[in-house]
Amino acid sequence: MTKNLQTRPVKFLNASVIAAVLIGMLAPPQPALAEAPPPIIAGVARNLPVLARNGMVVAQEKIAARVGLDVLKRGGNAVDAAVATGFALAVTLPRAGNLGGGGFMVVHLAKENRDVALDYRETAPAATTSDVFLNADGAADPAKSRDSGLGVGTPGTVAGLAYARDKWGSGKFSLADLLAPAIRLAREGVPVEDDLADSLPQAARRLGRWPSSRAIFMKPDGAPWGAGETLVQPDLAGTLEKIAAGGPRAFYEGETAGRIVAAVRGAGGLMTAEDLKAYAPVERPVVRGIYRGREIVSMPPPSSGGVHLIELLNILEHFPIRETGPQTAATIHVMTEAMKLAFADRAEWLADPDFVKIPLSGLLSKTYAAKLASEISTERARPSAEIKHIDPAPFEGDQTTHFSVVDREGNAVANTYTLNFSYGLGLVAEGTGVLLNNELDDFAAKPGSPNAFGLVGGKANAPGARKRPLSSMTPTIVLKDGKPEIVTGSPGGPRIITTVLEQISDLIDHGMNAAEAMEAPRFHHQWLPDELRVERGMSLDTIRLLREKGQNVVVGGTLGSVATIQVLDGLMMGASDSRQRGTAAVGW
Ligand code: GLY
Repeated sequence: MTKNLQTRPVKFLNASVIAAVLIGMLAPPQPALAEAPPPIIAGVARNLPVLARNGMVVAQEKIAARVGLDVLKRGGNAVDAAVATGFALAVTLPRAGNLGGGGFMVVHLAKENRDVALDYRETAPAATTSDVFLNADGAADPAKSRDSGLGVGTPGTVAGLAYARDKWGSGKFSLADLLAPAIRLAREGVPVEDDLADSLPQAARRLGRWPSSRAIFMKPDGAPWGAGETLVQPDLAGTLEKIAAGGPRAFYEGETAGRIVAAVRGAGGLMTAEDLKAYAPVERPVVRGIYRGREIVSMPPPSSGGVHLIELLNILEHFPIRETGPQTAATIHVMTEAMKLAFADRAEWLADPDFVKIPLSGLLSKTYAAKLASEISTERARPSAEIKHIDPAPFEGDQTTHFSVVDREGNAVANTYTLNFSYGLGLVAEGTGVLLNNELDDFAAKPGSPNAFGLVGGKANAPGARKRPLSSMTPTIVLKDGKPEIVTGSPGGPRIITTVLEQISDLIDHGMNAAEAMEAPRFHHQWLPDELRVERGMSLDTIRLLREKGQNVVVGGTLGSVATIQVLDGLMMGASDSRQRGTAAVGW
């Protein structure tokens, strides 16, 4: 990975940093005091964040991160930088960055002291019915939602990023200005390295199904472009140029829209020109919680992420997590029991708020969390079947992507967007360079039938016309005294929620810096299947103790890939995840 692009050292060592470091050095050993400044330099911490004072971008791909940083350096604000990074990732990280998918953005606007959430999630085409993913026997047919045009939701990214710039950008950069780096990268090509080199061979089967995708991502001999080669995307450059000239309408109407509709319908889908024309992002009130004196600001439904992050933190407040310490069986057990309860709620209650009534204030309330906390035994695991019984299902790999941006005015952006699977459906709409999502697999095809992430849902999240499928994406900003202290998020389907939870707990409860928290082995439980997934590196003693408490521990596979910025007294500390290659924290 390439996380330390920033030349770090001496120039940052002004009085406040030195004071912070000295206090950090004087702080007692673990368990760390949450109020002690996080250790940020060599000799204090095992892992060091990248430091900056004027602005920072952390993303899962370094070229796109630098695009955002360049916008900050040229006087853009965090939203301008996020929009430029978002478009650039569609070129440089095509398995998750996108024009043909959707996502969520949480923004803190410093001057207005206001937090906003933008929902640019994909919508189901108007012709979608609740039984769209069932076969003739009435059973859920995963091939329909994952491998055919039926799974493609009307994309939201182009409308969402343009909306964010119009509404919250500095006004110094036109949409065309922010698209220019992406256009150049698509036309001139990007080196096949890092995550691109890792992910293309893995996706070769999905991409290879479609001639339009093969022509871009594979060589004439049928092998995917490999390390050391260059990926050139002239059709994508053309689509980006059209958006630069004509705004989002040039994507949602006219030739590009026609080509997207033809591709989706050719793959058996239901999308029409009317679906694309009608697409609109939605500004929604953020969800808020309080955790140990901080304000948690996160994404509301149709993502489940913010709701369950806050529900989980509310439950954790009832346990002495700081004293039980990081990475101990006592802490992990309690967090796991809380995760089971939150994910059981997710399956029952969460869905598109424009279609179903979600008991939001109940789920976010401290009293409800107190009741859930009272059901947790610190000694014994509660089998998921006792909460509700449904068959287990498998996990899939990471595919979404998150980036975090902070500028010197104190604005912050947490943005997570996705095509669902890595490279989505794998289908490029001929002539556009646009990879299409298979996001509609996030609906519950049938109550109790798991989606690709093993997540089950009920009627609330059934497919429906123009409905948004339930997400787990959790772009989050933590405010301290009204100012961004942590900006974070991650890919990983349901593991996003637990990854973000662990980041926030490690920073707030255990006094880690963002880089230390990023390296800590992660764990995840989603109620069903009834298993506690832990990453390699977790102590075998801890695993043994967890098993003794009745946890069904399964070791292996990585969980999430965070992009976190922590701000202490104006000092920005960034950490990009080492679980993927090519991630970057860049600042100035
Ligand atoms: N497609 C993964 C999510 O939205 O949670």
